[in-house]
Amino acid sequence: MRDPKGLRSHSWFNGTGYYNFARRAWLRAEGFGHDIFEGKPIIGICNSWSELNNCNVHLRTLAEAVKRGVWAAGGVPLEFPTISLGEMFMKPTTMLFRNLMAMDVEESITANPIDGVVLLAGCDKTTPAQLMGAASADVPAIMVTGGPMLAGRWGKQTLGSGTDGRRLFDEYRAGRIGDEQLAEIEGCLSRSHGHCTVMGTASTMASIAEAMGMTLPGGAAIPAVDARRAVFAEESGRRIVEMAWDGLKPSTIMTRNALENAIRADMAIGGSTNAVPHLLAIARRLGVDLTLADFDRISRETPLIVNMKPSGEHVMEDFFYAGGLPTVMKALLPLLHGDALTVNGKTVAENLERAPEPDNDVVRPLSDPIHKEGGTAILYGNVCPEGAVFKQSAASPHLWKHRGRAVVFETRQEMLDRIDDPDLDVDENSVLVMKNGGPIGAPGFPEWGHIPIPTKLLKAGVKDMVRISDARMSGTSFGADVLHVSPESAIGGPLAAVRTGDEIELNVEERRLTLLVDDEEIQRRLAARKPQAPHYKRGYGKLFLDNVTQAHEGCDFRFLHKDAD
Ligand code: FES
Repeated sequence: MRDPKGLRSHSWFNGTGYYNFARRAWLRAEGFGHDIFEGKPIIGICNSWSELNNCNVHLRTLAEAVKRGVWAAGGVPLEFPTISLGEMFMKPTTMLFRNLMAMDVEESITANPIDGVVLLAGCDKTTPAQLMGAASADVPAIMVTGGPMLAGRWGKQTLGSGTDGRRLFDEYRAGRIGDEQLAEIEGCLSRSHGHCTVMGTASTMASIAEAMGMTLPGGAAIPAVDARRAVFAEESGRRIVEMAWDGLKPSTIMTRNALENAIRADMAIGGSTNAVPHLLAIARRLGVDLTLADFDRISRETPLIVNMKPSGEHVMEDFFYAGGLPTVMKALLPLLHGDALTVNGKTVAENLERAPEPDNDVVRPLSDPIHKEGGTAILYGNVCPEGAVFKQSAASPHLWKHRGRAVVFETRQEMLDRIDDPDLDVDENSVLVMKNGGPIGAPGFPEWGHIPIPTKLLKAGVKDMVRISDARMSGTSFGADVLHVSPESAIGGPLAAVRTGDEIELNVEERRLTLLVDDEEIQRRLAARKPQAPHYKRGYGKLFLDNVTQAHEGCDFRFLHKDAD
């Protein structure tokens, strides 16, 4: 017999004081019988549902499945909302608000009589925000991701969300697709609720949540509209009740080894570059000393084995039918920390005992990888002394080693104003450089890093160019984009010193990014730099500007790190 006195919620409702009585009375106001809560764990369902977030719009339905599971296992489910972050709608960028959502999640959990929590996430930033908040709250938690949308379909072409959306829009810009065709594509690119169906940020973060043991096994790839996703949610509802009784907390699951497993999986699936700051932020919430060097070390040791857009050919439905993340983890098992504990109370290795082996082109065995290294490489050099991120699996291999003349844009607006100017002095060997795209400079670290190829070059058949910025890019993008340059230009990082006409050398194999200008000249240019005025003087924006860390530290607020003073 389990003792309810050990439950967190016990002190809210049990006892003879006025507030014990009053809290029970206020629950009665919701129509619950007087004894329904007695001796049962209260399970919060932390829901990022919103009609301003199409990717998460089905999460209220999924919450009903979670509730069934919670009731069936002898718990009491109480659903609550937090802010949601719809990638396509929010300006200037959802990343500005990831930390705000994480604070909302943490405080909603800690302030309330919750013994365990089910995290319902989907769109890009909602998943890391919930994991960050749950890590800080450290109350038993399990994640249920919303699943990928159905693949787009245009004629005989299968379309993968942003990857094919951007590719076809470039065809439109080049005049090879007309208005009527573009309108058709608009109507069939996203055919259902659920998150983007390529290995973009949402699919990556769902896979990472599973790899680090925060979801039940096999959940990441189930399509949003598949009945098995509701079953997965129901099973998660059952499981969190046991976790609440056992006191199995996120800090016990999300250990350093679990985070390394997550990075390993990220590299093998060709995951989004956005996973890097999110995992760095989660680590700092837990007091785990994770750095960019860990990403590069693991990347060099881990072959890319998943053939998914934007790095490859397939979409999330194909990934699900090929076995999903358990198949990837099975292949990676010799490289994983197999003894890491997961939310079902078993280890990673135990969960993989019956996982299918890779047996087709979607997930390859380690002996036949797509590339000998992982999807993401970390670069260093005089432009990025604290590092930069490059998704080698989604860049044209002929550009992995490249030297070219910089064409510099001081701001994104300048880039937008000039990129299609027929008189812009640019060719396919040029290196497009954009400044002021970082956490402080943009502000909010937006996905501006996939600088569009000038239309005149698109028309001439150019499909990829080296581009450099301190911004992020969408996980659905394909291109030779050097991202997350740190420290950012707006606070005087050396990217601020680059001028049009300078030579820049990229060498991914050697992990180098070099501005071929001597150090004295770089320092002279930086000393002459005129800092921009802050974007915000009040409100959340000011809180963000005053406290956000740089890309190589995860862009969380320093006062939310576990070791904050
Ligand atoms: Fe939400 Fe892509 S826009 S996952």
